Amino acid sequence: MAIPDSFIQELLNRVDVVDVIDASVPLKKAGANYSACCPFHNEKTPSFTVSPTKQFYHCFGCGAHGTALGFLMEYQGLGFVDAVHELAKRVGMTVPQETRVIDKVAEQAALGMQEALHMALGYYRAELKKSERAINYLKGRGLSGEIAARFQIGYAPSGWQNLASVIKDYQSESLGVAGLVITNEQGRRYDRFRDRIMFPIHDQKGQVIGFGGRVLGGEGDDSGPKYLNSPETPLFQKGHELYGLFLARRAIREAGKVLVVEGYMDVVALAQHGVGYAVATLGTATTPYHITKLMRQTDNIVFCFDGDAAGRKAAWRAAINSLPALTDGLRLSFLFLPPEHDPDSYIREFGKDGFEAALKETQPLSQYVVQTLSSANDMQSHEGRVRFLNDVEPILKQIQAPALSLLLRKRCAELAGVSQAELESLMNLAQPAVRRKSAPARSSRKPPTLVRRLIQMILLRPHLALQLDASMVPGNGAEDEVFGHLIRLASESPSLATSALLQSLRGNVPESLMAEISAEVMEVDDAFEIEDEFEGAMKQLRDSLKQRELAVVLRIAQEQGLQALTQEQKMLLQQFRRGAVQGSEQNKV
Ligand code: GTP
Ligand code: MN
Repeated sequence: MAIPDSFIQELLNRVDVVDVIDASVPLKKAGANYSACCPFHNEKTPSFTVSPTKQFYHCFGCGAHGTALGFLMEYQGLGFVDAVHELAKRVGMTVPQETRVIDKVAEQAALGMQEALHMALGYYRAELKKSERAINYLKGRGLSGEIAARFQIGYAPSGWQNLASVIKDYQSESLGVAGLVITNEQGRRYDRFRDRIMFPIHDQKGQVIGFGGRVLGGEGDDSGPKYLNSPETPLFQKGHELYGLFLARRAIREAGKVLVVEGYMDVVALAQHGVGYAVATLGTATTPYHITKLMRQTDNIVFCFDGDAAGRKAAWRAAINSLPALTDGLRLSFLFLPPEHDPDSYIREFGKDGFEAALKETQPLSQYVVQTLSSANDMQSHEGRVRFLNDVEPILKQIQAPALSLLLRKRCAELAGVSQAELESLMNLAQPAVRRKSAPARSSRKPPTLVRRLIQMILLRPHLALQLDASMVPGNGAEDEVFGHLIRLASESPSLATSALLQSLRGNVPESLMAEISAEVMEVDDAFEIEDEFEGAMKQLRDSLKQRELAVVLRIAQEQGLQALTQEQKMLLQQFRRGAVQGSEQNKV
């Protein structure tokens, strides 16, 4: 679904980024701007800055930056379209529907599904209240009524077509797609979930997208699998969703960490005991999507899987799957419980304090990986060390985070008894990519180039672009591309706001460059006389363009003689000879 750019621009004009952010992250006035401790990384002194005049935010600590729209996307983990809708709702604007027919069908289907899931949720919750057996089961597991209500836990009674009583059209397509019913070979439909405790799974907006259903019996119960989950549907992809994330958001922010566990019951039991910052994978391995999703909420992720062999296996897979998503700013660690425990049983036995004490003894990811591999091989023998090197090679190759990569190489080389350089050449490892995720410290920044200064000025005073055109872009680097893009955009609509321009650059410009530009623009004083500065910069630009042109003219003159020059080129050459145009170094004849 395409939302017209003009709508986005109008929307950004209408909202105030200060209000939008302040609603989630209380801001304090600091000079012309507002500031707070950055919600996107851990910090003690505020470097998160919001400009009411420029209508965007920038964190000088971690480089996070964006408009009101970008904030909603990052902070609430919303997709672009959802963020637009959310923001529009807040200011009472209606998002124009440019929906193509095919999307409309998909959208209707999703709506139908959503509705079916919602109805089912209401039904299961109501049934829980009626079932003493189900209530007793939950009580027996130590859950209070409040916690059951908070997690919207329900009960699907036995019987084959209970949902027919609450959903008008039991034969509807969406009921099947939502995974609430199963159709047998004779074409007869029946409820997927029967006689099970129902755990609704919510998306980031708090809407139900699926269920997990548990049998009421203990381990010996033979009425099918212990847990039955909704199948994957267009709304529900297990590799992307985490159980409990919607409810845990606030606690995650407050605790400054998230705990990833294996089971529904673990999440609920932890919450019951006051540990609200846990989420669970949905019977699948932890994926890089999961990690990325969690990184939007916190930079401290602790995996706490069951102490049994299956739990250890899950921990290892989580570690391996996290590698590509790692950044140097991210803390990833593992808490290993005693083999007989899972988080649920552990917190029930030792309470919140006992659990949080255990949480102080986590093992960082790198240590865990190296230790696991070095203890799996006989590090005393050459053969064992060769195997160790073979094992760590694919791991090292997947880590993009520069500092972590460096430290791990050092450590692995040390363990294998080779030098770091030997290890790197053996494995054909490139130097760790220095990807600057965060903006460089203010003082260490180089003075901006001419193009960079012009970019800043156009971002702040878009109407200035009217004095420029695309032929005035001096080079073809990334900055020049941004410059050209801005000239086009701003000269077409010179009344655009800074935020709208920044928003339109998103995704078209390398992220590291965006972060730098955003930091620079944030730092420009509002009172600054941009128009004066612009005149000076324009003169410099014209001069440098002339020099570029002159270089071409001189080359043609040298290679093909004066007669090959156009009239204009001849004039330029004359000006140069009279000394009116300064040649640059390479223009010496
Ligand atoms: P309780 O016995 O209720 O405490 O379960 P648990 O939360 O300790 O679950 P367990 O450690 O046995 O399993 C962890 C997770 O794996 C569950 O929350 C489910 O998501 C998933 N799972 C467990 N058993 C099954 C099963 O039989 N089928 C499927 N599809 N998933 C399961
Ligand atoms: Mn359990």
